[in-house]
Amino acid sequence: MIEDNIGITLSEVSESFGLGLPVSWEHLKNGNINQTYRVDVITKKGKRAYILQKLNSNAFKTPQKNVENHALITKHLREKLKNDPDISRKTVKLYKTAEGGYLYTDIKGDYWRAMTYIYGAVSVNKPDDLIMRRTGEAFGTFQSLLSDCPIALLHETISGFHDTEKRMEALAQSAKNDKCGRLSEIKNEYDLLMSFPAYASFFRKEYDEGRIPLRVTHNDTKCNNVMFDEKTFEPLAIIDLDTVMPGFAAHDFGDALRFGANIADEDEEDLSKVGFDMDMFRAFAEGYIPKVKDSFGTYELETLPYGVIAMTLECAARFLTDYLDGDVYFITRKDKHNLHRAKCQAALLKDELSRFNEMKAVVREICSGNVMRRTTYSEPLSLKMHV
Ligand SMILES: Nc1ncnc2c1ncn2[C@@H]1O[C@H](COP(=O)(O)OP(=O)(O)O)[C@@H](O)[C@H]1O
Ligand SMILES: [Mg+2]
Repeated sequence: MIEDNIGITLSEVSESFGLGLPVSWEHLKNGNINQTYRVDVITKKGKRAYILQKLNSNAFKTPQKNVENHALITKHLREKLKNDPDISRKTVKLYKTAEGGYLYTDIKGDYWRAMTYIYGAVSVNKPDDLIMRRTGEAFGTFQSLLSDCPIALLHETISGFHDTEKRMEALAQSAKNDKCGRLSEIKNEYDLLMSFPAYASFFRKEYDEGRIPLRVTHNDTKCNNVMFDEKTFEPLAIIDLDTVMPGFAAHDFGDALRFGANIADEDEEDLSKVGFDMDMFRAFAEGYIPKVKDSFGTYELETLPYGVIAMTLECAARFLTDYLDGDVYFITRKDKHNLHRAKCQAALLKDELSRFNEMKAVVREICSGNVMRRTTYSEPLSLKMHV
């Protein structure tokens, strides 16, 4: 919802970051969490656009950590891309206020940040195979450019974000409490999710036993967090760095596919429509793996499909937990919304498990460079309709 007097607030924010008074602005609605605006300012060189973004205070309790992570990541990426002529469209720089901080607090106590605007670029909400491949390329490049970023300097902006075991424990606790009397309705899904403890503990164990490293992870690897060139649809920058944290690469890989390879919507009620699209899996993997192959070990590459299962299990558990708790976390837009979401993720999980060996084979095939069947991708121009 656009708040009252937003024009005044945007002027104040823009001035606080020393950007000048906006002559026009637009609310950009492709995001899921924050409130994002493009503002246009007249400078000696002509009109210039900036991004002003109000942080979601429900999701982010320590906004200072978000902007510090953003600054660290951008500094690292800019060093790597310093000779790239398109560097200004491949990284997003934060501006500072006169006081020297990256945040401005408005009269209501909300936090704002200001960033460079990426010109001639679009984000895409619903991927097709080409966008999936290029989203894979974008996140693979992001991962590889950050493979030597000092992880110890990164903050955890949401604690335990992908601690799958903890998410399963929370589900078990909510089922035990059953405070809304809904357990009997979700018994089948509950039993299904609880029957995969090995997938829930997989990454923690692999890490504890030294087989996979912690890496810089993005944690929201949807295609609408990639800016693509508006004409060629080549990936430019990864945006939305709020959830960048130390984590496991396979979680980023898996979450991109949990979202992008589901042939149905995340809350589809007709479960016969839900399924995991192996062509989308292949497309993402063909984009991602060649970019990370040199910085990952063979074993880490083989763990990538486990990320798909872990992320879907975790997501299903979170929806189910919220349904049992009385819909207190996720915004619900229809009756039993969390129940439908959970059932949809559980159905997706079943389909993914039936395709797990196929996923592993595709990863091996791409890693070996011996690709048996390459996806034929859509023409970039046909993508315009998805933006
Ligand atoms: N630096 C930028 N330049 C151009 N457009 C941007 C920029 N940052 C964000 N956007 C647009 O705003 C949308 C929402 O931004 P995002 O940071 O992803 O917000 P959220 O955290 O709410 O998901 C993006 O999908 C994109 O279309
Ligand atoms: Mg976003």
